[in-house]
Amino acid sequence: MTDVTTPAARPANPRFSSGPCTKIPGFSLDMLDDAPLGRSHRAAIGKAKLKEAIDLTREILGVPADYRIGIVPASDTGAVEMALWSLLGARPVEMLAWESFGEGWVTDVVKQLKLDATVRKAPYGEIVDFAQVDFARDVVFTWNGTTSGVRVPNGDAIPANRAGLTICDATSAAFAMDLPWDKLDVVTFSWQKVLGGEGAHGVLVLGPRAVERLESYTPAWPLPKIFRMTKGGKLIEGIFIGETINTPSMLCVEDYLVALKWAQGIGGLQGLIARTEANAKAVRDFIADKPWIADLAADPATGSTTSVCLKFTDARITDGAAFAKAVAKRLEKEGVALDAGAYRDAPPGLRIWCGSTVETADVTALMPWVEWAFTTEIEALAAAA
Ligand SMILES: Cc1ncc(COP(=O)(O)O)c(C=O)c1O
Repeated sequence: MTDVTTPAARPANPRFSSGPCTKIPGFSLDMLDDAPLGRSHRAAIGKAKLKEAIDLTREILGVPADYRIGIVPASDTGAVEMALWSLLGARPVEMLAWESFGEGWVTDVVKQLKLDATVRKAPYGEIVDFAQVDFARDVVFTWNGTTSGVRVPNGDAIPANRAGLTICDATSAAFAMDLPWDKLDVVTFSWQKVLGGEGAHGVLVLGPRAVERLESYTPAWPLPKIFRMTKGGKLIEGIFIGETINTPSMLCVEDYLVALKWAQGIGGLQGLIARTEANAKAVRDFIADKPWIADLAADPATGSTTSVCLKFTDARITDGAAFAKAVAKRLEKEGVALDAGAYRDAPPGLRIWCGSTVETADVTALMPWVEWAFTTEIEALAAAA
């Protein structure tokens, strides 16, 4: 029998969910006191809040001045689908997928829009070879695979003079990783991810080439009001200064503003990236010398720094899915890691969210518990055999 020592310290905050992610450090509902509740989002105060959210997003993410930023309905999914339905069909399409959400966008384009797209897929833990991609086509991809623990390392493979548009779902990358704006024509994300905001609202960032497409091309299919960004062939500019298509939650807007101001206070994007990278390093340093656990990311160059996915590699494990589930359950029961099981469609294992609202001390405190839960579960298997 191995000696299973219970770790002495617990994470002060056990929230390691990959979305909605943990709130900013020190969050309390009192911080939302300034929300203009019961007021119209079209009143001056509501519009000013929405514009401030757009302006701070631009400042912190370093979005170029000629890119539009819109707050849109239905979270990241809403933002991605607005882009797909409004922009695609004008030229051939390539769909790149390496996890569950990217595969969802493939289904949208191939089965719903019925476009004859080239589909490139990589297994969980890998990304596709960008050298093979034809950027004369419109290319749709996910920057960070939230369910597979891998990310695009940089935009070097995307040509500056591409003829097609690049449409990037960056929901688990924005505010945690550098995004090469000049290589991305459309970027989407939601508030519930890296900044620990609330669900329901998405952000759609459009570069000048995407706007040009919107103004010069009308899709063959009907567009519901919720997706419509043009009127009479011209962009509805109001959407991108805070005149939202329909009613947003001003409570969620306030919450996003509070998170943006926190981000500003810790050094903006570089501060956010540094926190995320320190968290991911704490996980990877811990597993480096452990023969029973490994990074799902096959190549460290593409390892995600937000959604770090781990797999158990011990030969004594016979049912990987049941084992991983049991470990995640033990962590949850001990109150040391909530929602840290792998995504339902991903290979079994753990997924530890390391985004910028997570404190490195909590990640460091969690890792001995992962070892404890693994060892306890292996012992339980041996006892049952
Ligand atoms: C890569 C990716 N795309 C899209 C989504 C869907 O985001 P939302 O629920 O904000 O629409 C998620 C959520 O986890 C995601 O990780």
